[in-house]
Amino acid sequence: MERIIKEIILTDKQIAKKVKEIAKKISADYKGKEITLVAVLKGATLFLSDLCRYIDVPVTIDFIAVSSYGSSTETSGVVRILKDLDEPVESRNIIVVEDIIDTGLTLNYLVTNLKRRNVASLKVCALLDRPHKRKVDVKVDYSGFIISDDYVVGYGLDYKQKYRNIPFIFSIKPEFL
Ligand code: IMP
Ligand code: MG
Repeated sequence: MERIIKEIILTDKQIAKKVKEIAKKISADYKGKEITLVAVLKGATLFLSDLCRYIDVPVTIDFIAVSSYGSSTETSGVVRILKDLDEPVESRNIIVVEDIIDTGLTLNYLVTNLKRRNVASLKVCALLDRPHKRKVDVKVDYSGFIISDDYVVGYGLDYKQKYRNIPFIFSIKPEFL
């Protein structure tokens, strides 16, 4: 495994600290309210599971799966729902939980789709963000780390479905991409 690592971008300690900070902010912003965390499969699952345990307002969780990248590292721009939410979200305060926002195409599609379901409110929380790569303008309300262009994996993020289980986030040497 070590031989494919170009650089460790974020250690497990840095991630854990940031996740707690975001959870604290969310808890303060939603004091007295209930929230539904909508995690985007599969990349956001580790982030969701760590984030939700530090939020101290009532939380429900649900999952949505969309296709945007296929199994390569290039965005196709085509987004479609592969697995929809299990429960209706009408009148709920929704926070979309994403691993990374790059072009914003995936998120833009999701936000538009979910807003049509008459939610009470909708915010976006992303662990990683590449604002300079945006193709559409989408608002990220809670953002963990701004990162550079290098393709990154670990802590839920994959390359061809691998490395999601690695507890830290790293870039891959180009010869392995
Ligand atoms: P966007 O639609 O271009 O914003 O792409 C967002 C999605 O692409 C994320 O939810 C990830 O699944 C995937 N993605 C973008 N960049 C990376 C990366 O560096 N590593 C792993 N997945 C990525
Ligand atoms: Mg994703």
